[in-house]
Amino acid sequence: MKILKLSAVAAFALALALATASRSGVHSQAATEAPAAFDNAPVPGFYAGTTAQQQAAFDADRAVFEERDDIAKGLGPVYNAQSCAECHQNPVTGGISQITEFRAGHQDGFGNFVDAPGGSLINDRAINARIQERRPSTAENIFTFRTSLNTLGDGFVEAISNTTLQNIANAQPGQSGGQIAGLLIAVPVAEASGQTRFGRFGWKDQQASLLSFASDAYLNEQGITNRFNLVENTSLGNSVAAYDPVPDTAPCASNAAVNCGEDPDEDINVFARFMRASKAPPRDTFGLNANDVAAGDSLFNAIGCAICHVRNITTAAPGTLINGGAFTVSAALGNKIIHPFSDFLLHDVGTGDGIVQNGGQISANQLRTAPLWGMRTRGRLMHDGETTNRTEAILRHAGEATGVINNFRNLSTTQRAQLVTFLQSL
Ligand code: HEC
Ligand code: HEC
Repeated sequence: MKILKLSAVAAFALALALATASRSGVHSQAATEAPAAFDNAPVPGFYAGTTAQQQAAFDADRAVFEERDDIAKGLGPVYNAQSCAECHQNPVTGGISQITEFRAGHQDGFGNFVDAPGGSLINDRAINARIQERRPSTAENIFTFRTSLNTLGDGFVEAISNTTLQNIANAQPGQSGGQIAGLLIAVPVAEASGQTRFGRFGWKDQQASLLSFASDAYLNEQGITNRFNLVENTSLGNSVAAYDPVPDTAPCASNAAVNCGEDPDEDINVFARFMRASKAPPRDTFGLNANDVAAGDSLFNAIGCAICHVRNITTAAPGTLINGGAFTVSAALGNKIIHPFSDFLLHDVGTGDGIVQNGGQISANQLRTAPLWGMRTRGRLMHDGETTNRTEAILRHAGEATGVINNFRNLSTTQRAQLVTFLQSL
């Protein structure tokens, strides 16, 4: 009986695969592994030319991601740091860091989250002490830190189709009455006006495209206005114009008819290109007991961690139009298998910070499943960086993850240690 059922499913899957292949006219080609390394070298074939030319192009883009901006270049008036690499650096440019950001707000009488004056982001630095932001009063009683995220391999994450994310969500048990049900949110794509796409970047899935994220980060982290974000942040709602020596009105180098704010060279394009060109975080079992890693690896699936921390995702086929039609998946990024250990969906695992960004009030206590690839480069865990130990990070999950975490609690001491050893290999 069981065997019959399985083969029927297999036949159905095969028919479906064939139908999909012929419908889209794409020659069915087996997906290949995405390149993964912390080696300061680009995804092969992302740039044109010889290997040396590709490396030179990547190095030039990386230099812009690492470039420290000063007041003359538009830094501030309120900001968090001087370069992307200041917060995205470990163990190579584009990775993580211990730097956090600060967000705050409060609830109105109806239980809806309301930003602190001027926005929930409280910038930690200013070019003049008179406009320094801080949590303005105890009335802003919902607040949290957010750790810097890894951007390495994010070109592959961007290249995941909406359908693939939807399929992952549909397969989670909660959609049929169980506990785990990931939430998809559609967010605006800055470079495709009026278009939305499923968010997959940021702790709240607040962005879907790396160019949109780069534009947002250039303004919010460095205070540098650019063609999709032309208005400076305030200091707790008060204008900073009197402290802003650089006008937000420079023509774009590539098209003088467009206002590029403080970013005439369009560095936001380069930031996005650098992140798209970067390889995925690699695994490493150096110094670990191989048998323990293997045992922990199976336990991770067996007790249900992989329902949210999804192991294998295949990116869209080369030629697929994404980001509201503004970007075409290239051969270097398309049809690649990645191992992000995330479903890129929002979940309530009992750690919610209460803050709403692009996802509406429903997302106040939801967070994106933390991608575990490259996790061994991190000492401060969870969105607020306040958990400093792997086992404690697991035990901090509740809400939708309660059943899975109870499975973890029921493991033997040896098995729990094996699961943690497996995490050290990511
Ligand atoms: C002050 C530190 C800081 C600086 C500077 C900074 N970032 Fe970030 N970055 C963060 C933090 C913190 C997050 C997580 C924010 C969140 O989701 O709330 C993040 C998230 C991201 C993500 C999402 C990654 C993912 O996989 O979800 C991208 C992309 C990104 N930053 C790009 C940039 C770019 C490009 C720059 C330069 C223009 C930049 N960042 C500058 C701290 C920083
Ligand atoms: C219901 C979905 C879900 C399940 C099931 C789940 N997680 Fe998570 N996991 C999350 C979310 C969401 C976060 C981010 C929470 C936060 O930052 O507050 C997270 C964060 C983590 C982190 C912190 C990573 C970092 O870089 O900060 C670790 C480690 C982790 N999970 C491991 C596990 C393990 C091991 C299991 C199985 C025992 C598991 N998770 C089960 C959703 C889940």
